[in-house]
Amino acid sequence: MCGIFAYLNHLTPKTRKEVLDFLVNGLKRLEYRGYDSAGIAVDSADGRNVSIIKKNGKVQALQDEIYSREADLAFEATADCHVGIAHTRWATHGTPSERNAHPQRSDEDNTFCLVHNGIITNYKDIKLFLTKKGHTFESETDTEIIAKLMMHIYKKNPNDTFQEIVEQCIQQLEGAFALCIKSKLFPGECVATRRGSPLLVAIKTKTRLATDHIPILYGKDLVTSLDFRPHGGTAAETLTAASLMPRTPSTAEFQPMEEDKQVEYFFASDASAVIEHTNRVIFLEDDDVAAVKDGTLSIHRIRRNMDDPHAREITTIKMEIQQIMKGNYSFFMQKEIFEQPESVVNTMRGRVNFDTQSIVLGGIKEYIPEIKRCRRLMLIACGTSYHSAVATRQLLEELTELPVMVELASDFLDRNTPVFRDDVCFFISQSGETADTLMALRYCKNRGALIVGVTNTVGSSICRESHCGVHINAGPEIGVASTKAYTSQFISLVMFGMVMSEDRISLQQRRRDIMKGLQQLEEQIKEVLKLDSKVQELAKDLYQNKSLLIMGRGYNFATCMEGALKVKELTYMHSEGIMAGELKHGPLALVDETMPVIMIVMRDPVYTKCMNALQQVTARQGQPILICEKGDKDTQEFASRVLEVPHTVDCLQGILTVIPLQLLSYHIAVLKGCNVDCPRNLAKSVTVE
Ligand code: AGP
Repeated sequence: MCGIFAYLNHLTPKTRKEVLDFLVNGLKRLEYRGYDSAGIAVDSADGRNVSIIKKNGKVQALQDEIYSREADLAFEATADCHVGIAHTRWATHGTPSERNAHPQRSDEDNTFCLVHNGIITNYKDIKLFLTKKGHTFESETDTEIIAKLMMHIYKKNPNDTFQEIVEQCIQQLEGAFALCIKSKLFPGECVATRRGSPLLVAIKTKTRLATDHIPILYGKDLVTSLDFRPHGGTAAETLTAASLMPRTPSTAEFQPMEEDKQVEYFFASDASAVIEHTNRVIFLEDDDVAAVKDGTLSIHRIRRNMDDPHAREITTIKMEIQQIMKGNYSFFMQKEIFEQPESVVNTMRGRVNFDTQSIVLGGIKEYIPEIKRCRRLMLIACGTSYHSAVATRQLLEELTELPVMVELASDFLDRNTPVFRDDVCFFISQSGETADTLMALRYCKNRGALIVGVTNTVGSSICRESHCGVHINAGPEIGVASTKAYTSQFISLVMFGMVMSEDRISLQQRRRDIMKGLQQLEEQIKEVLKLDSKVQELAKDLYQNKSLLIMGRGYNFATCMEGALKVKELTYMHSEGIMAGELKHGPLALVDETMPVIMIVMRDPVYTKCMNALQQVTARQGQPILICEKGDKDTQEFASRVLEVPHTVDCLQGILTVIPLQLLSYHIAVLKGCNVDCPRNLAKSVTVE
């Protein structure tokens, strides 16, 4: 939800055009996170002020605006030291507009400018307080109050450092935020902080970095009390000068080596925006305040959590630039669908040994005995990730012989679901940042359950807050519609079931069948992808319809829900995944000769029941389009059109049946002229509840 990118060059001469290009390209890499408006703040051409440029719509509109002001912005002038901040927005408070776009500012002089991801839940109270102090507001955003609060704190304590102002400010904020701040009072400095929204700092130096860790500097509570809570009575204020404990000496900060004072810093919501510049990053933790001054990075915290390490590690991320480029594909989603033969192999790589028929999941190995003793497994997630849990539930029940509950994170929290110490809770999330899933994780952790994260994003909040976990290793997924992450989540959960059943004699044949299925997946997915042109033809027949029903049961019910979700989010067409067993309990009333129906009928244990459903549909003049096993002529007899997929073991069939539906939603979206990678109203990573 929203993307932050900031760039600071210290003693590294760059033309202003280079700086502007870095900012815009950084935003383009993050555009999948939010795309209703975008903006930047940079030093003005004379270096004495800060210029803000904002534009409604996509990043391209912002870039066009910047390029139209080439002379104004002094493209060719060079800056040795400079700070630029940038943002792409997904509106939460206030409609998408230039006024509500970020950066938001403290005043007409742009004294403090900042970009924000997340939601400030107490913004109304702070706004009221600041209004009474004479501040006027120009946007409908919650973000603007942060900039104005900084200004207010600065005016009270004009001798405070930039970082101290930010520290005092965030103590007053409730809700979630990642912030990057630039101030004309502190040229060449940038401060960034987070709570509940991801943020990283990346470092680029000419020579190898002298350290792998940045020790944290602790202060004591700053003496700041702004009483603006409604139940606190009047907006009384007792704001006194900040008093800080003496900080640890400056060796605790990251300084570029003496012979190499040239350094560049990048701040971003995720690594895909910085990887073309450097792979050395620090993932900030909640309440970290990262400050760069005179080219030196320091990380501060007001107080220390008992289980918090004393330093932040500089990690080397392994992402390749090609992974975040579209290559020859028209859209990221298309590329990601076609990457699945490779991504499923990457999920299994180093874990599944087909020679010895064994599977090791390094991230949870130590916890398997504890998991085997648990009372039940709970799989908790949202959207597509939830569907991967539905898809594997039956197999997990079979292989673990444990009760398996599958929960939508938001509903799970609404119900205050009972959770016990001997529960094992899996949190499945591509981004690892989904707010509902993260909240559910914390809820379960507080109740003593074992927390297992299943994510695609190294360093994400869910990763860090889990006791153990499995990285699905699908590679970066940029298209807002999740595709390859789904099949990799599916396989990760299957692998977990296999690990749990390793020593079960009665399941040995079943395990061998699944192993064989896993081994064949790469080739079988390639075969399914050959249906592309056939699916494109089908899309031509369907794209003008208003509705599309997708029916199946057993192992393929999840495919129906996932297929329907893809159709909805990409094409804005109504679509419903229907459990075929429920057909006669209501949905059959929708069926007539005009209603498009896709049915999934595989030669699995529910085949006969699926055939009954198929006949119920044809008896009502329905014209079902069938997804079925290759060569199954008996079944195909009842279909108006057929998409054949190879046969595999029943519990893996859903990996093959979902791909035609991914392709179908993609082609319908293209035919309807929808924005495939950035569907309206959506964002890749939903970091608000
Ligand atoms: C999938 O196509 C969606 N865009 C969405 O349902 C997504 O799966 C959901 O928001 C959960 O995201 P996560 O996997 O990153 O937690």
